[in-house]
Amino acid sequence: AANPQWGGRFASGPAAIMSEINASIGFDRILWRQDIRGSLAHAAMLQKVGLLTQTEENEIRQGLGDIAGEIAEGRFEFSTALEDIHMNIEARLSDRIGEAGKRLHTARSRNDQVATDFRLWVRDAIDGIQGQTQSLMRTLAKRALEFYSTPMPGFTHLQVAQPVTFGHHLLAYVEMLARDSGRLADARTRMNECPLGSAALAGTSFPIDRRMTAGALDFDRPTANSLDAVSDRDFALEYLSALSIQAMHLSRLAEEIVQWASAPFGFVRLSDAFTTGSSIMPQKRNPDAAELVRAKIGRIMGNLVGLLTVMKGLPLAYAKDTQEDKEPVFDATEAMTLCLAAMDGMIRDLQPNADRMREVAGMGFSTATDLADWLVRELRVPFRTAHHVTGRLVGLAEEKGCDLSDLSLAEMQAVEKDINASVFDVLTVEASLASRTSEGGTAPANVRQQAESWLARLGES
Ligand code: ARG
Repeated sequence: AANPQWGGRFASGPAAIMSEINASIGFDRILWRQDIRGSLAHAAMLQKVGLLTQTEENEIRQGLGDIAGEIAEGRFEFSTALEDIHMNIEARLSDRIGEAGKRLHTARSRNDQVATDFRLWVRDAIDGIQGQTQSLMRTLAKRALEFYSTPMPGFTHLQVAQPVTFGHHLLAYVEMLARDSGRLADARTRMNECPLGSAALAGTSFPIDRRMTAGALDFDRPTANSLDAVSDRDFALEYLSALSIQAMHLSRLAEEIVQWASAPFGFVRLSDAFTTGSSIMPQKRNPDAAELVRAKIGRIMGNLVGLLTVMKGLPLAYAKDTQEDKEPVFDATEAMTLCLAAMDGMIRDLQPNADRMREVAGMGFSTATDLADWLVRELRVPFRTAHHVTGRLVGLAEEKGCDLSDLSLAEMQAVEKDINASVFDVLTVEASLASRTSEGGTAPANVRQQAESWLARLGES
């Protein structure tokens, strides 16, 4: 049989495979709350402008409330023949309340309906991700305050470069997450316009009040162009872009955790709650959660590229291609929700091995820059010359198999005659750290102040 919602000019129903490729109810049922909310706003507006009687609007409100109950309690029978969540709910409404239900779709199309529902869903998703992001930032800032002066090696090229503090390293991710959060907030602001009332593509002849529906749905204003409103999905793409960048950040931290937890590093111990064992090797404590956070970027970014590819070259206005916008967004949201929760838990629980980090922080002549800086400051040697002198001293220490601080004063003076014993004061990891007081530098006093300021900003002291 033909679809009861639009089958007037059809003699027979679709092929089974047509229903299968066409139907989105399998995944868009997740939009049911947004769909009902949109319909309630639309019905109230239709009543206000005289297109529904008060009785009809009451019946619709009652009917949609009952349907919400049915869906929430798992009593609703979703039908593939009815294609999507919009027609499933509308058909059920007509079943329940008759005539008034059939009036609901006045001055509306599924095109503006789905554009509205989906924006509402993405907006809610952003709010959820934002809450989790704040929580992770808070956790990182708390741990940063705890370890504001704990030395660890800072790396460039994954070679020991200069000492930093563990707190400083954790706060680097707080900065990244703050920008991620800013991107999500920007996307939310830009998407917060209401497509409802654009109808199929051209607007409607009915005297609707778009400001009323926009306001009822907490949008800032109605969209300005009906063609644009029903056909663009840049709001979803912007959301996926922001999530991709955020997932990239989380994957970097995840990768570092994997490294730190490995025996050659030995920097941190993950809690039992965030490790797994091996079915054959009894000693193993595998960082699976970190590995999965490292990996989830694959599907999140894949979803961005997938939807961009769907949208490219699509002529205005609505085309069914656009129905492919939802699964990537749902999937990316689920992945990011998991990543943020797992990362929060891992960071909360993880125990740094301060002795090991301190040991490695002093390896690889990590205070060589401090020696060069000393030559510049104390002897007024030009930096490029100081770099060269220090390089020779590093070469000498390497040859002897010792640290810079193990060279004798005489050995140093053989390379640069004016060096004096006060040079040894700058060669320790602690001295190096304490000296990095430039704005944004790793000096423990800086890091402590940064951590406290973040905690205050995040509503925690
Ligand atoms: N399920 C559809 C979607 O997600 C709803 C819009 C259908 N509109 C149409 N003209 N067939 O895009």
